[in-house]
Amino acid sequence: MRIAIIGGTGEEGFGLGLRLARAEFPVTIGSRDPARAQVSATQANELLGTNAVQGMGNAAAARWGEVVIISVPYSAHVATLQGLAQELAGKLVLDVVVPLDPNNPRRLLPPAAGSAAEEARAVLGPTARIVAGFQNISAHALRKLDTPVESEVFLSSDDQEAKAVVMDLAQRAGFTAWDVGELESARLVEPLTPLMISLNIRYKSRRGGLRVTGIKRG
Ligand SMILES: NC(=O)c1ccc[n+]([C@@H]2O[C@H](COP(=O)([O-])OP(=O)(O)OC[C@H]3O[C@@H](n4cnc5c(N)ncnc54)[C@H](OP(=O)(O)O)[C@@H]3O)[C@@H](O)[C@H]2O)c1
Repeated sequence: MRIAIIGGTGEEGFGLGLRLARAEFPVTIGSRDPARAQVSATQANELLGTNAVQGMGNAAAARWGEVVIISVPYSAHVATLQGLAQELAGKLVLDVVVPLDPNNPRRLLPPAAGSAAEEARAVLGPTARIVAGFQNISAHALRKLDTPVESEVFLSSDDQEAKAVVMDLAQRAGFTAWDVGELESARLVEPLTPLMISLNIRYKSRRGGLRVTGIKRG
């Protein structure tokens, strides 16, 4: 399963790339600047002791990937999806974007569509294979490769097959993931990120996360 990460030079995308490449998925880091993508890929390969991570411009990365992760700031979400709409047609799109207020990351800017995930569907069309997930996984925790990520992954999608693919991918990379329902359920998941940021600030932590207890998988 080839995984491309749009905005993979950034904190979250780079951390996800590390965890996925370590689980032996072929990973390409995408950037608006292919040279910057190459620099990040080299850094990832050095950290992992591999040469499995590649760097490319965003459009080339999206063409290459079978799963394409969107990991850009919310302010660039719609424009990035619009710019890559052709490349993303038919691809499994994993959206990790949270609509945070850039001036105050403890605040959510709820999109008119209901959530960033539904905004992606509004841009890419109703048949797009969109899964929303990893919105609450801190980049700082992802980078600590010697420590399991304690926070759990909540997956939302209208496409059961796509959601099962991402569930498998998450589990292989060492995450505990939960199916929280249809794409609309991202409305419940995205606000958990500013909640966690608030708690981390209040209690001077960088790694706090969300865990589900008391539910058994049947
Ligand atoms: N950081 C976290 O702990 C965390 C946790 C959970 C979810 N998230 C979500 O993950 C997404 C990425 O977060 P991040 O912290 O990685 O963000 P970031 O480091 O600020 O940006 C990620 C990448 O997006 C690209 N980018 C920046 N501005 C852009 C623009 N105007 N147009 C197109 N691309 C642009 C940049 O790549 P190039 O310049 O190389 O193109 C940048 O390296 C956000 O939506 C965030 O809500 C983050």
